[in-house]
Amino acid sequence: MFYFKDFYGNDVYLSFRQHPFSVYPKHVWVICRYENKWLLTLHEDRGYEFPGGKVENGEKPVEAAVREVREETGGIVQDIVYIGQYKVIGKEKTIVKNIYYAEIERLEKQSTYFETLGPVLLADLPEKIEDDHRFSFIMKDDVLKRSLEKIYADYIK
Ligand code: GTP
Repeated sequence: MFYFKDFYGNDVYLSFRQHPFSVYPKHVWVICRYENKWLLTLHEDRGYEFPGGKVENGEKPVEAAVREVREETGGIVQDIVYIGQYKVIGKEKTIVKNIYYAEIERLEKQSTYFETLGPVLLADLPEKIEDDHRFSFIMKDDVLKRSLEKIYADYIK
């Protein structure tokens, strides 16, 4: 289990075990890879981030993950694996989010990308992402850093 502060100073707990905080998390986040690049979305307010969002009624978290990737990037998921889960103790509420790693088969143009401007492909992520104002705050804590370490170790050849 890892503990750290997020970009706004909120407490974050992160674990790579099976659903340590909730079996029914309400949020999902998907680290996506397409043709050897990272597939992100450009959120209108927050900037570049991996796609994600809320689990809808009647949906399983992994189904929400696949849907969010398509809605926010047009990416069609080929393979998706659960990586871990984190809990953010916010000022108003606490959220629990599942982290997935997805390999994308193809990009399909969407008529809307919801609150985002659609897909962004990056060969590399900046080393000092926390100082880069183009990137969303959700990319700026140890959730991304530790998840990428795990993805590189387990899934990227
Ligand atoms: P509504 O329920 O629709 O009002 O959503 P909301 O706008 O309150 O946001 P949400 O439920 O998505 O998130 C609640 C709080 O958790 C917000 O203050 C966010 O800043 C924070 N939060 C959401 N996702 C993340 C994340 O991935 N990382 C971090 N560190 N904080 C997050």
